[in-house]
Amino acid sequence: MADLTGKVALITGGGTGIGKGIAERFHGMGMKVALAGLDQASGAANQYFGRNMGGYTAARDLAETLGEGAVAIEADVTDAAQVEAMTAATVETFGRLDVLVNGAGVITAKPIQELEEADWDSVLGVNAKGTFLTNRAAVAQMRAQGGGGCIVNISSIAGKLGVPFLTHYCASKWAMIGFSISLAKEVAKEGITVNCLCPGIVGTQMWTLLSKAFAQPGESEEVAYARSIETFIPQGVPQTEGDMADMTAFLVAAPHVTGQAFAVDGGASH
Ligand SMILES: NC(=O)c1ccc[n+]([C@@H]2O[C@H](COP(=O)([O-])OP(=O)(O)OC[C@H]3O[C@@H](n4cnc5c(N)ncnc54)[C@H](O)[C@@H]3O)[C@@H](O)[C@H]2O)c1
Repeated sequence: MADLTGKVALITGGGTGIGKGIAERFHGMGMKVALAGLDQASGAANQYFGRNMGGYTAARDLAETLGEGAVAIEADVTDAAQVEAMTAATVETFGRLDVLVNGAGVITAKPIQELEEADWDSVLGVNAKGTFLTNRAAVAQMRAQGGGGCIVNISSIAGKLGVPFLTHYCASKWAMIGFSISLAKEVAKEGITVNCLCPGIVGTQMWTLLSKAFAQPGESEEVAYARSIETFIPQGVPQTEGDMADMTAFLVAAPHVTGQAFAVDGGASH
């Protein structure tokens, strides 16, 4: 396996959940990590319903805990200027950019007749447009360095399957895969790889929200969560942040693997 010591990774959504797990793994491998996050989203309709989502505060706390070789950056991935500034800040701090892990994502869960334009705009905005903006900025920087680099976009089991009440989220996650396969072919000769990681069910704050949304009348969130695992995951167990870090660590050390969408979902998709 390639030695990744000293390589520089920018991780959006790097302070919480799956992004945090990947950041801790990378840092433990001797990589330098820029952890991007957002506290207050400008769009009202996301999983946090306009509340402070604490992504930047979490990134700052994690960077402090990790110490040397870690920095937190506040940025909204739906804003082109902030994405450019986030990429520039990474390079300013660590001198270059070798890896982008695009983990920022939001979700709502609603039946089609209740789904509002604002749900569509915020979920497609963060998940799909955010992928476009962060990838565009990363490729520009990797090109400026003379080529080479690795991008991992965190799509989902919902980027490979249809899921009721998640029409807009599925659309955004399928979009990420189409985007990534296309970009992979576009930059292949420049030594830049682009892949997707497709997690199954990981018990992060995103699933706290989903369990609430999926709970049937009188059903607790814990029971709703267990029922979702039973329904969607053939192995019958949730996946972990560590599982996601395993696959991402493999991808950043695999120069000839590109244009793929890897599911880590206990057998749910193909
Ligand atoms: N948890 C799961 O089971 C699961 C399954 C499949 C895919 N995913 C995907 O994994 C990724 C990480 O999710 P998670 O489960 O760790 O939940 P999470 O809520 O902990 O992570 C999402 C992160 O995105 C950040 N974010 C949201 N909007 C942003 C914006 N506009 N700009 C910058 N950052 C923003 C949040 O602050 C948060 O840190 C998401 O893309 C999610 O869709 C999660």
